[in-house]
Amino acid sequence: MTATILDGAKVAADIRRETAESVAELAARGAIPGLSVIVAGEDPASQVYVRNKEKLAREAGIRAETLRFPATVTEAMLLAEIGRLNAAPEVDAILVQLPLPGGIATSRVLEAIDPAKDVDGFHPLNVGRLVQGKRAPVPCTPAGIMELLKRESVPLRGTRAVVLGRSDIVGKPMATLLTKADATVTVAHSKTRDLPALCAEADLLVAAIGRPAFVTADFIGEGAVVIDVGINRIDTIEEVLRCFPGDEAKAAAFAAKGSLLVGDVHPADVKLRASRYTPVPGGVGPLTIALLLANTVDLCRARRGL
Ligand code: GUN
Repeated sequence: MTATILDGAKVAADIRRETAESVAELAARGAIPGLSVIVAGEDPASQVYVRNKEKLAREAGIRAETLRFPATVTEAMLLAEIGRLNAAPEVDAILVQLPLPGGIATSRVLEAIDPAKDVDGFHPLNVGRLVQGKRAPVPCTPAGIMELLKRESVPLRGTRAVVLGRSDIVGKPMATLLTKADATVTVAHSKTRDLPALCAEADLLVAAIGRPAFVTADFIGEGAVVIDVGINRIDTIEEVLRCFPGDEAKAAAFAAKGSLLVGDVHPADVKLRASRYTPVPGGVGPLTIALLLANTVDLCRARRGL
């Protein structure tokens, strides 16, 4: 099997271009979509993500701001800031970057966001609405994956899908969306018995378990479509050799930088077994941000009745 790449970066660029057109139409009617991102603490990956979110939002014409708080921020301070954003007429979309610093109750913070401004769709009201098939903001990563599958004409109806991972951010909403698209969905996780064999039965495998190159050849059915949600940093030569055997360019990059990024799927194995797959980087990551921008526009329209 010679696997071909599902080009998430290209589809994401298409979605951002379409979103920028929608923003221009809204702006011409006096409504500039507004996105406020809250980030607390110094998590390096989060800092990179929020920088990219703000930059690409601005490129699409969205009024975007990032509100930065130290790791010592209290829950009360975050709740007060969210209250202010909930009341601000120019703010259509609020995103609280996760993870939050220890000691802060993530659920209390997410539940403080006005559901009409909940661009991630993490508020329990929106989670419930999504499960019931009602109109709701769809969490950005699963929404991006669904958009990729649609635009690349990956069949879903009647197929077997395995979602590996059961997080609130990816696994659970992904399973909901695939079920709605008439796939037969199994949610698998680290405690699942005979995990490789179960995954290998899937026509579509979505890996969102957060472990570097965890999905090896034995997890991947011949000809499966494989979506890799993972972004993991590896920093030992043993891991580099396991993930990128014989890859001199990666070995050189590791020597220069001291670490490398790898998905949840083994990058060499997937090429031998899958029919189509998303690479890391350049697969799911760019789609998440593109759908954040699209969701911001949707919330703006809904809130302002446009
Ligand atoms: N952290 C990792 N992924 C996400 C996401 O999609 N949204 C938010 N808010 N935080 C994240």
